[in-house]
Amino acid sequence: MNSKIKTLQEKIDLAHLGGGEQRIEKQHQKKKLTARERVAYFLDEGSFEEIGILVTHRTTDFGMEKEIYYGDGVVTGYGTVNGRLVYVFAQDFTVFGGALSETHAEKICKVMDLAVNVGAPIIGLNDSGGARIQEGVRSLGGYADIFHKNVQASGVIPQISAIMGPCAGGAVYSPAITDFTIMVEDSSYMFVTGPNVVKTVTNEEVTSEELGGASTHSSKSGVAHITSSNDIECLEDVKKLLSYLPQNNQETPETISYSLADEKREILADIIPDNPNKPYDMHEVIEGIIDEDSFYEIHKNYAENIIVGFARVGGRSVGIVANQPMFLAGVLDVNSSKKAARFTRFCDCFNIPLLVLVDVPGFLPGTDQEWNGIIVHGAKLLYALSEATVPKVTVITRKAYGGAYDVMNSKHIGADLNFAWPTAEIAVMGAKGASEIIFRKEIKASDNPEAKLAEKEAEYADKFANPYRAAQRGFIDEVILPEDTRRKLIKGFSMLEKKSIDRPKRKHGNIPL
Ligand code: COA
Repeated sequence: MNSKIKTLQEKIDLAHLGGGEQRIEKQHQKKKLTARERVAYFLDEGSFEEIGILVTHRTTDFGMEKEIYYGDGVVTGYGTVNGRLVYVFAQDFTVFGGALSETHAEKICKVMDLAVNVGAPIIGLNDSGGARIQEGVRSLGGYADIFHKNVQASGVIPQISAIMGPCAGGAVYSPAITDFTIMVEDSSYMFVTGPNVVKTVTNEEVTSEELGGASTHSSKSGVAHITSSNDIECLEDVKKLLSYLPQNNQETPETISYSLADEKREILADIIPDNPNKPYDMHEVIEGIIDEDSFYEIHKNYAENIIVGFARVGGRSVGIVANQPMFLAGVLDVNSSKKAARFTRFCDCFNIPLLVLVDVPGFLPGTDQEWNGIIVHGAKLLYALSEATVPKVTVITRKAYGGAYDVMNSKHIGADLNFAWPTAEIAVMGAKGASEIIFRKEIKASDNPEAKLAEKEAEYADKFANPYRAAQRGFIDEVILPEDTRRKLIKGFSMLEKKSIDRPKRKHGNIPL
């Protein structure tokens, strides 16, 4: 009996060694934790239960039958994060560079199936040289199995991908389908084809970091939602993100207790500048509304003319979509529309109410935008907000012009509560542009066209640069003092808690992709 126990212990010890001391040392030299260290740090202490620790690959080509490592390059299982059940897989770079074999893929699929069937988030810690080259198409099949399961799980359980090393070729498409991709700065990269192939095909000289590092994907491509400065911070980011999310699409996020004491926020009264063309930082409005220090921004450095992120309002988890007047005056363009649409759809999938803060002068004009399809991309946001059935509340802080007024969660597309501050300007366009068009003849015929334009501009502004026309029609439910916003939102979201909408049966809508 003792020898049998010894055999088991030896196998477990070998599995824990991964690719061996030397490769572990190499991993540490790169300032990376090993797969097991990551799992141990990520999950509540002692909560990890491993599944498939003794799995090995089945390849016999290229002498692979002599290179057997228990676990086959991926640590899989379940545990808890702050007491909540999660499933996890962590690729082990010390074993064949974390490359994905058929069995490695099977292990990932097994925990994905459990996660979907039980209804708990799945978190992938990616660190892999891609398809296991010695296995050929069997490895590619393994990827496709994972992609297919990612798609089936989409909108059912939260799926989060942490990129903590290489992630290249086909490997990128699993993170791309998951809900959030978090990249570690300087030690991770993602690309479909690496620098060598790029050089051959397009003759461009580019480093891995420039092509697909964390800063590239968080600012240029938007592939990364969040970047973290090291492995520990990355794992903390995943935990923080999870804190705003429910376990699955049948549940709502946890509401935490909060104090009512500070509901009135005087600070909000002084944010909007007197000059309507002067920018201000919408983050100040967000901070003024939400529970202290509760904002967790997504896509911080990408399409900065719109802000998206999670926060708590009266203890309740909400998704915020807000125009940012500090960048491009807060216009909607291709990238900001895509960013906000995807975030909106995530919140709707997982029963997270939406708060939309509006200060938008319209859509960005120009050939670049038109030729890149702003019509279709702008429609994504319109579609996403129209489609969402979660509680939807809007606050117009300043401009709500033209078609962008409609898009930004207007009453007409199904918002439940629409508030405006007294500084709101809800109109087809700004007073100057409007006057130049409708009073063109009058201005041209005048002895002093400039003075005439100013006069007409003032007349138009007086009529339309306010929230009262919209309030008269009921398009705005209430014009509120900025300092009362938080109180109104806490009450509003509480009132909307049991909101339920049944849509007619259909296979799925056809969002303009
Ligand atoms: N299949 C099988 N083994 C792989 C592998 C793969 N796709 N990628 C890496 N490995 C192995 C290496 O042979 C090496 O094995 P060893 O420890 O026995 O020497 C180990 O993983 C570490 O790789 P190494 O190249 O030394 O690490 P690195 O940090 O210098 O480079 C990569 C990492 C990912 C850039 C590099 O390994 C690479 O380019 N891999 C191939 C990527 C690829 O083309 N994948 C297939 C297409 S998806």
